[in-house]
Amino acid sequence: FMNSDHLRQKPFPLEEEPVNYKPRPLTDICPILKDPAALTAVTDLFEEHIRKNHPQVELIVGLDARGFLFGPLLAQRLGVGFVLIRKKGKLPGTTVSVAYDLEYGKAEAEIQEDAVAPGQKILLIDDLLATGGTLYAACELMKKQQADILGCLVVIELKELNGIDKLKSHPVFSLVQY
Ligand code: PRP
Ligand code: MG
Repeated sequence: FMNSDHLRQKPFPLEEEPVNYKPRPLTDICPILKDPAALTAVTDLFEEHIRKNHPQVELIVGLDARGFLFGPLLAQRLGVGFVLIRKKGKLPGTTVSVAYDLEYGKAEAEIQEDAVAPGQKILLIDDLLATGGTLYAACELMKKQQADILGCLVVIELKELNGIDKLKSHPVFSLVQY
C-alpha cells in the first residue's frame, strides 16, 4: 500500500475545504482495510516498531473511531490488552473525559475510569495525525489517569499541519508522512 497513488498525492489545502467537514479523500484508510495484505503490512510495521522500541508496553489504547480498526489487531499480536477512548456518551460505567477542538468543531473524549491503572505503560493508536488535537486530548486523558505514555502510533501523518508539535513530549511513530 506504500506505493499506492492515493497515498502519494498531496492532500488538498485546508482553505479549499468546504465549511461542512468532509473527510479528506487522500487520508482514506478504507483501501488498506479492504486489502488483507496491506492490513497485514500495517500491523507488521507497527509490531516491528514496538518490539524494537517499546517492548515494555502493557496496553494499546485506541481512539474512536478509526483507531479501533488498527489497535485490536496490534494488541493481539503483542499479547496485550486493548482499551477504547470513545467520543462522549458511548461508554458504560464511570468515565473520565476531556474536551478538545477539531478542525471542524469541538468534541469530548472519554475513557472508563478503571480502564488504565496508574503507571501502566501504554501506546496510543489512531489512523491519522492532522492538527494533533485528537491525540493531544487522548494524552491529556491518559495523564489524568496517571498512565505512563510511551508514545503515539498513526498510519498517516499530515506534515503540513504540524500536529507533531502539539505532542512534543511524546514520540510519534507514523507509517507514511506527507
Ligand atoms: C479524524 C482521524 C483522527 C483525527 C485527526 O477523526 O481519524 O482521529 O481526525 O485529526 P486531528 O489530528 O486534527 O485531531 P474524526 O474524529 O474526524 O473521525 P472518526 O470518528 O472517523 O475517527
Ligand atoms: Mg478519528
